[in-house]
Amino acid sequence: MRFRYVCSDCGRIFETEGLMYQCPDCAKENDGTHFPKGNLIVELSQETLEKAREKEHVTPNDFYPYPIDDESLYPVGPTPLMRPRRIQEKLGLGHLSFKLDSQLISGSFKDRASLAVALQAKALGEKRIVLASTGNAGAAMSAVGAAMDLDIILFVPESAPINKLMQSVLYGAHVVPVKGSYDDAFALSIEYTKKHGGINRNTAYNPITIEGKKSVSIELFEDLGRKAPDAVYVPVGDGCIIAGVAKGFIDLKKAGLIDKIPRIIACQSEKSDAIARAIEKDDYRAISATTRADSISVDLPANGRMAARYVKESGGWAVTVPDEAILDSQITLTRLSGVLAEPAAAAAYAALEKDKDNLVGKLGKDAEIVVLLTGTGFKDMKAFDGRVTLPPAIENDISALDNLRF
Ligand SMILES: Cc1ncc(COP(=O)(O)O)c(C=O)c1O
Repeated sequence: MRFRYVCSDCGRIFETEGLMYQCPDCAKENDGTHFPKGNLIVELSQETLEKAREKEHVTPNDFYPYPIDDESLYPVGPTPLMRPRRIQEKLGLGHLSFKLDSQLISGSFKDRASLAVALQAKALGEKRIVLASTGNAGAAMSAVGAAMDLDIILFVPESAPINKLMQSVLYGAHVVPVKGSYDDAFALSIEYTKKHGGINRNTAYNPITIEGKKSVSIELFEDLGRKAPDAVYVPVGDGCIIAGVAKGFIDLKKAGLIDKIPRIIACQSEKSDAIARAIEKDDYRAISATTRADSISVDLPANGRMAARYVKESGGWAVTVPDEAILDSQITLTRLSGVLAEPAAAAAYAALEKDKDNLVGKLGKDAEIVVLLTGTGFKDMKAFDGRVTLPPAIENDISALDNLRF
């Protein structure tokens, strides 16, 4: 067998490569008031890890539970690693880089999990995939679904940015806008799967999503000349991306390719800080999230427990930032690095700006730091309303040039 599942809470082992969501014992306790228990972790076989160790270069496919035969069918990465010179100078961090996941096919990090779940569906002979999303995961799953001939049923809050919704409609998904929050859409999608079947792709609820997200760490390892960075700043909502980042490094360590896991830093809005509370105060209660950074606006993080644990085990920490700083960071990123990031992605950079002195105090200014820029700003230009305006048109007349002042 290539892998098996382990419960992240009680440690129970499930010797199957079939469809599994949560540990039936631990999930019984879930009542919606506290972060859910019973999420599963994929444990790759020793043989799979050893094969990876022997390779001169590894790719995510070496670590996927369900590998793909033809990676060109829906290429997910490697995304560029940018050295943003002007931002390095501004922050005094000479080894800072940006991982540009905004450049994935559907415009966000979520292509990573979506490909892994599409491969799961193919391996298990399923055609229907059901999910809830704040927008990006839905768009990503719909895009992969179009490429791989899968039926996608997508529950999204009707308030999600219109471009994210339209993207999914364009890819041919069955889009179901919900008059409610992301957490409401999440619950409805699970009920739908129970009644009508298919694979549920909800983030972390389906453990394969984390296996897709870990691919970014495999890439980073190769990007940096076969070594791990010292710290990674990750924007956090449900806590699935950040757990994926940790899991990638855990698998690399198990394969004997790195010695230690980098510090994983959880970056949240002050208005959606459930996982930061768990990291800092062991508080696992649901909150009422209101941040403008829609992709990280989560009341009850689906993967909150695992995320908080991985952050602490890595020696990392949480940073929360006001929404104002997130929106300002979008402008800093565009002006000083040429990267147009959506608010959730910019939150990771805003957190680094705030945390810089603490970081340098802990790891020194020459530490190798990566900020994950998880989604493109093109999907949500409304985030710039009131901040950036288009100048009025000038007359088509040479004399109008005299009035220009730059
Ligand atoms: C662009 C972007 N960044 C960050 C996140 C947060 O990821 P997670 O909910 O796994 O913590 C999301 C999730 O939708 C996202 O779309």
